[in-house]
Amino acid sequence: MKKRHLISFILIMLFHLVISQQVIVSDHLTADFHAQRRTALREKMPTNSVALFFANPIRNRANDVDYIYHQDPNLYYLTGHNEPHALLLIFKEGQVLTDHEVSEVLFTRGHDALKELYNGPRMGVEGAKSKLGIQLVYEGTVFEDFNLDFSTFDKVLFYDFKNDVLDTQEQGDLFDLMSWTQSKIGYQQDLMMIEPIQNNIDVKALDVIIKDMRGIKEVEEITLIKKAVDISTIAQAEVMKAMRPGMSESEIQGLHEYIFKRYQAEFEGYPSIVGAGHNGCVLHYIENNKSSLIDGELILMDLAAEYHGYTADITRTIPVNGTFSTDQRRIYDLVYEAQEAAAQLCKAGLKFSELYDATAVVINNGLHNLGIYKGTQPDDIVNPETGRNRYYPHGCCHHIGLDVHDKGNYNLLEENMVITIEPGIYIPKDSPSDPRWWDLAVRIEDDYLVTAEGCQLLSDKAPRKASDIEALMKIKSPLDDFILPSLEGN
Ligand code: GLY
Ligand code: MN
Ligand code: MN
Repeated sequence: MKKRHLISFILIMLFHLVISQQVIVSDHLTADFHAQRRTALREKMPTNSVALFFANPIRNRANDVDYIYHQDPNLYYLTGHNEPHALLLIFKEGQVLTDHEVSEVLFTRGHDALKELYNGPRMGVEGAKSKLGIQLVYEGTVFEDFNLDFSTFDKVLFYDFKNDVLDTQEQGDLFDLMSWTQSKIGYQQDLMMIEPIQNNIDVKALDVIIKDMRGIKEVEEITLIKKAVDISTIAQAEVMKAMRPGMSESEIQGLHEYIFKRYQAEFEGYPSIVGAGHNGCVLHYIENNKSSLIDGELILMDLAAEYHGYTADITRTIPVNGTFSTDQRRIYDLVYEAQEAAAQLCKAGLKFSELYDATAVVINNGLHNLGIYKGTQPDDIVNPETGRNRYYPHGCCHHIGLDVHDKGNYNLLEENMVITIEPGIYIPKDSPSDPRWWDLAVRIEDDYLVTAEGCQLLSDKAPRKASDIEALMKIKSPLDDFILPSLEGN
């Protein structure tokens, strides 16, 4: 067969294979990705050390209902395991644990037909071996008598034990895994005790290594973050079209989150913040319970999708009626200018603090020019009650990733970091400014990939400029025709 024909033949066969097997192309992180992260961790671990990673506890909401489970991001990063009651051990050097040498062991839940009937299938030992590709896997119950002498290691590295782990009474649960670890290593978290009992125990060093790793994103992670960012910004743009006075904050939240779900985003990356008028001045306002948005006020929307574990972090602030008032526009443009100033400077090698300084200079000078900061800087600028800049009281930039405020270093920007730039101005009622500015709150938050040449704006699917926002808000929304029956009279 000629080479050209052979290639066509292979392609046709592959196509048929995909169709006949209904192969679903997955964009989840692969077992290889996680294995490679474990290798990278091992390389950074000190000689003759072991690192322990526990699954997150299940948190109870009320009575017999729990919060939706969220895995410990480090354990997820290193394994892709999404189940509770697990413990991962990673060894710097191979250990002969059965008959052969291994560099990792996972303890996880076994099967339980009744529990799986209610809560869905568990991976079990075989699943963890085959799907996650961990070298050695046991049920959690095995750990109690597991033959491993922790005193032979120079370093036992872990994040200090969480103090909200409930005893489920199930043998080998997280509570047991932690208690058994405590007796094996001779250390119990004791808030009164500064120094651990054994001197090979280190509850600090692992975080240094993890920050180095998670702060610099791999290509696969950047792909997922970009997806989360696209979903979140498409939602912002759709909501801009749909926004009308009289809608409620929770309805706006629902529209964003509905669009996240349309794109198969599993969760919100953090509790959604939708604050109109003075609610926008509460930095992490999550009640979202204002029932009717007022014509003439601004609404601050800080929401983002979490897609396959990775979250965006996006804020847009828009006029409820589609047009900024003159004063709103002045404040908005100042925040926009501050964000642009930082974005223009942003590139590998710059200090994080220089990004903040770039935003603060624009905001402080701008507010001074508007007569909002009256005195001489800096006395006038710092609020003595909070110790923060009175109208710009938060930082400008943080890593995003598996956590919305992701692990990472905050000294120099490095290539393949993914960060936010999010200046804001918040002028609550009773501030020492002319009352005409009161209850104005603006935050603009975007996500950037740091490169050697500059910072690439990832969140460009939602407008940021005031005039672009106003133009988009004039476009009809399909939701205009989505009328639900009234509950009145019920
Ligand atoms: N959404 C939280 C933050 O902007 O940091
Ligand atoms: Mn943020
Ligand atoms: Mn945010």
